[in-house]
Amino acid sequence: MMGGADTLLRQEPWFVSLAVLGALYTAAVVLRLLSHLALLLRRPRDLRRRYGAWAVVTGPTSGIGQSMALELARLGLNLVLVGRDPAKLQDISETISKTRSVQTKTVVFDLALVATPRGDPYARCTTQASPRHPWDEAVRRLREAVEGLDVGVLVNNAGVAKPCALYLHEVDVEAWVRMMRVNLCALTEVTAAVLPGMVQRGRGAVVNIGSGSSEAIPSFPLYTIYAASKRYVAQFSRSLYVEYRSKGIDVQCQVSPRTEENQPTLRRSDASTYYPRKKNPTKKIAPS
Ligand SMILES: NC(=O)c1ccc[n+]([C@@H]2O[C@H](COP(=O)([O-])OP(=O)(O)OC[C@H]3O[C@@H](n4cnc5c(N)ncnc54)[C@H](OP(=O)(O)O)[C@@H]3O)[C@@H](O)[C@H]2O)c1
Repeated sequence: MMGGADTLLRQEPWFVSLAVLGALYTAAVVLRLLSHLALLLRRPRDLRRRYGAWAVVTGPTSGIGQSMALELARLGLNLVLVGRDPAKLQDISETISKTRSVQTKTVVFDLALVATPRGDPYARCTTQASPRHPWDEAVRRLREAVEGLDVGVLVNNAGVAKPCALYLHEVDVEAWVRMMRVNLCALTEVTAAVLPGMVQRGRGAVVNIGSGSSEAIPSFPLYTIYAASKRYVAQFSRSLYVEYRSKGIDVQCQVSPRTEENQPTLRRSDASTYYPRKKNPTKKIAPS
């Protein structure tokens, strides 16, 4: 051992510096690895005791959201299930009630309606007499549903990946905007509706479902809007975590790898049958 140190000290200074740097870097990597391993070995938290008795899950009617809802119910959390299809919501609610002794509530909310022009909050303030937009109603229903409940966990899972495998100019902008409404506007709106209760109780966890398309790879061509919307989710989560850390609220962005269920396996040629191409995608828009 001493011999090894002597040999090292007899080397050129640049070599010694590089060796020390290398050793420090390796030690840092090993420490990080060990801390991750320690996390894996830790017993799972009792979510109900740590955060609260209820969880809100968006998009619980299929895929990842359904699995999350079933798992949270298995862990003993009551559920507020938020989705657009009343029949599917009823289905999942009954499945949970039959298998677990937890309570469920359902909130019908088409997240693609969030931030539609008629639902603009400023327009709402100035034209009080105008009829309420379905989106207003849905947010109100969600706020009412969570009011007074000890909501400890919010899972922002609902998200859309279609239109997929298409160039930006090939699809009507409205289709991209719908995707943005669900993937980022609705996620923001739902979080804003659930957070006040968590702040009041001084505890809570917000779990946002991101995607490897924005984190694991440098670009995701033909899924540009989807990947960009998921980058929003990741950055939103990072900043929100810092913003609410002192209020006892944890925020996490889970970067899901690709799962098989419900994943579109569209070829570009198939995609155009679902999302008709614009008549003349290259036509320039005249300045107004
Ligand atoms: N699957 C993957 O490989 C993968 C990979 C990375 C990230 N993700 C992300 O993980 C999340 C779930 O993905 P998934 O594959 O499990 O999706 P999925 O099976 O298609 O389920 C999506 C859920 O969101 C709901 N939803 C869609 N549009 C909605 C709207 N306008 N209003 C209300 N609810 C709406 C769906 O309701 P309906 O049942 O009524 O359609 C469904 O419950 C998404 O955020 C997705 O971006 C998935």
